[in-house]
Amino acid sequence: MSIKEDFIEALRVAGHEFGCDKVSPHNYHVFYAAHLLDYIDRPFRLLEIGIGGEDRETGGASLKLWERVFPSAHIYGIDLYPKTALDSERIKTFVCDQGDPVALEAFARQHGPFDVIIDDGSHKRSDQLTSLFSLIKWVLPGGYYVLEDYFTSYWPVYDGSTLAKDFLDTPVRWLKQTVDIINRPNFLSPESKAFVPDWGIDELHVYAGVSFLKKAQGQGRSEIPSEEFFENQLELDELRYGRFKETFMAYAQDPMSNLIFLEKLKTLVENNINAVKDLTDEDPS
Ligand SMILES: C[S@@+](CC[C@H](N)C(=O)[O-])C[C@H]1O[C@@H](n2cnc3c(N)ncnc32)[C@H](O)[C@@H]1O
Repeated sequence: MSIKEDFIEALRVAGHEFGCDKVSPHNYHVFYAAHLLDYIDRPFRLLEIGIGGEDRETGGASLKLWERVFPSAHIYGIDLYPKTALDSERIKTFVCDQGDPVALEAFARQHGPFDVIIDDGSHKRSDQLTSLFSLIKWVLPGGYYVLEDYFTSYWPVYDGSTLAKDFLDTPVRWLKQTVDIINRPNFLSPESKAFVPDWGIDELHVYAGVSFLKKAQGQGRSEIPSEEFFENQLELDELRYGRFKETFMAYAQDPMSNLIFLEKLKTLVENNINAVKDLTDEDPS
C-alpha cells in the first residue's frame, strides 16, 4: 500500500473506533488524506470548530481521531459548551461561540496561528461566515481552512435557501467568490477589487460535502503583463460597462437587498403603467 492508502486506512479505522461521522457516513477522510498527508509527522496546530455532543454528551470524536493519526499535532477544539473532559497533553478545548467575531479574535490571538482550521460547528450560514471571515487570516501559509457540510447553505433549517441561493450571503456564495479571491491580482477596476477580500488563498478544492481553501505560500502573482496593458484594459472595461457601475457595486455589496429593491421598483413601474392605461382607457364621453 502507498503512504496515502495507509493514511486513508488509519483515518478509517480511527474514525470507526471513535464514531466520527467524517468517516461514516460522510467519507470526508479520503479528502483529508489527500490534503493533510504531509502533516502526518509534523508538529502542527489544528483547530476544529464544533467538538460534538452539544450540551448532551462529551463528544470529541474528531479531536480523538486527529490525536490518533497526527502523533505530533497540537489539537484545539472550540464549542458553545464546555468539553474539558476531553483535554489531554495534546488536546485542548475551549468555550467559544463561532458566531462571535470578538471572541474568535481573542481566542486566535491567544492560541493561533493554525496550520489547519476546520469548521464543523453550527452549520448556520452566519456562524460559518463569521468564522471564515474572522479566522482565515489565522491560517498559516500553505495551510488549510476546511468548510465541512457547506451544503447546508441550501437548507432553510440552517438559515440557507435553494431558491434564494444566488442572492443570500452563504458559504456556497463565498466558495464561488473564492475564484475571484484567487484572481484578485488580475482585477482591473479598483472599485470591484474593494469587494474582494485579500485572503491570500491560491487553491480551492470543492468536493461533495467538504471544501478546502489553501493559503498561498507567498504573495499572489498578477498575470497582467504591463502597466500599459492594465490601463488599456481598464479603459475598455469602463467604456463597455462603466455606466452600470453603481448597480454592479450595490449588487456586489448585498445581492438580496438589491433584489428586494428591484422588486419594489418593478411593482411601482407596473402600477404606474396600469394607472396610465386606466386613464387612457377611460371613455372620453
Ligand atoms: C456536528 S457537531 C461537531 C462534531 C465533531 N466535529 C466531530 O466531527 O466529531 C457540532 C458541534 O458544534 C457545536 N456548536 C453549535 N453552535 C456553535 C457555535 N455557535 N459555536 C461553537 N460551537 C458550536 C455544537 O455544540 C456541537 O457540539
